[in-house]
Amino acid sequence: MKKSDSDFIPVNEPAIGQLELELVSQCVRSGWVSSAGSFIDEFEHKWAGYCGRRYGIAVSSGTAGLQMAVRALELRPGDEVILPTFTIISCAQAVIYTGGTPVLVDSDPETWTMDVNQLESRISSRTKAIMPVHIYGHPVDMEPVLNLAAKHDLTVIEDAAEAHGSQYLMHRSSCNAKWVRCGSMGTVSVFSFYANKVVTTGEGGMVLTDDPALAERLRSLRNLCFGPDRRFRHDELGYNFRLTNFQAALGVAQVERIDEIVSRKRWIGEYYSLRLKDVPLLQPAVERPWASSTFWMYGVVLHEESGMDAAAFSARLEQRGVDTRPFFLGMHEQPVFRRMGLFDNECYPVAERIARQGLYLPSGLTLTEEQLDRVCAAVKDSLR
Ligand SMILES: Cc1ncc(COP(=O)(O)O)c(C=O)c1O
Repeated sequence: MKKSDSDFIPVNEPAIGQLELELVSQCVRSGWVSSAGSFIDEFEHKWAGYCGRRYGIAVSSGTAGLQMAVRALELRPGDEVILPTFTIISCAQAVIYTGGTPVLVDSDPETWTMDVNQLESRISSRTKAIMPVHIYGHPVDMEPVLNLAAKHDLTVIEDAAEAHGSQYLMHRSSCNAKWVRCGSMGTVSVFSFYANKVVTTGEGGMVLTDDPALAERLRSLRNLCFGPDRRFRHDELGYNFRLTNFQAALGVAQVERIDEIVSRKRWIGEYYSLRLKDVPLLQPAVERPWASSTFWMYGVVLHEESGMDAAAFSARLEQRGVDTRPFFLGMHEQPVFRRMGLFDNECYPVAERIARQGLYLPSGLTLTEEQLDRVCAAVKDSLR
């Protein structure tokens, strides 16, 4: 089967509803199409509120949000930020672009998020921040991260780009246990609203914080650090990372439907888990008891005994009409960083294995039960 065939199942399709169309056309008709306009404030307010935060700063992408968040740390050369090797390059490059050094940790073999047991050994006198990244919708085990950050006086830059609506059970071993949303736990927390995300504005992102001074600084960085008293006078360099009003209009409409979107994502994840849990040679996505995942993308890792790696498995699934995407490739395996002399001789066996053996299955909101059944049948058939 070819990707252009009508019954080929794509890995993701955005679900744009009637309200999205109405608000975007209302915005365009109003003429307020730049980054000035009421939908920006409304989107920032609503998304920050949903995540339980005081301030939201809408930006042009998650990558831009991470870069601003790290820039606000005012790193000096040699200052370090700890992050998982298994993530998107946006995380490590934000540290490098702002003059710092990324320090890596390996992944948990089942949740694929940062292995928090390795964190303390990576903290040095130069460490300024930890950047936990919730992977494919599953939260990082945040309590150890937050405890270490408090103990060593570190900033937490929470990358929640893939975890809209996911939740984490805080204080799980006490009687004060409570569920909190991903995006509520960092000193700053960053979302992406790229087209394949749970909430999308096409391209876009947001940085959240509770700190009024930090929020002010992020707003300034987003908008070229225009001086407050005299326009076009600048005391420092910033970025143009502004989101447009009509992207924000799309976002506002999506936030209105967030509960429906999250429950649909969870339903898809649970549907896969039930049908794939006993398939030999396959490790499906998990959900820890202290986590509520939205299964942003439903990942699977293939056992080596299958005789296949993820690329071969993906080719078989494609022949059966099912689109997939490979897992991240660890930062320590990136040619660009190797050429820069970074991560020399470093080895992260879990990340290396899941990069080789992992892929994600179609996970979009528009998937029907019949399509999910076809994906599961194709998975089983490809493993025979
Ligand atoms: C974990 C993570 N962080 C950051 C980003 C960057 O977001 P964007 O694509 O909006 O720049 C992504 C993008 O997919 C991501 O998956």
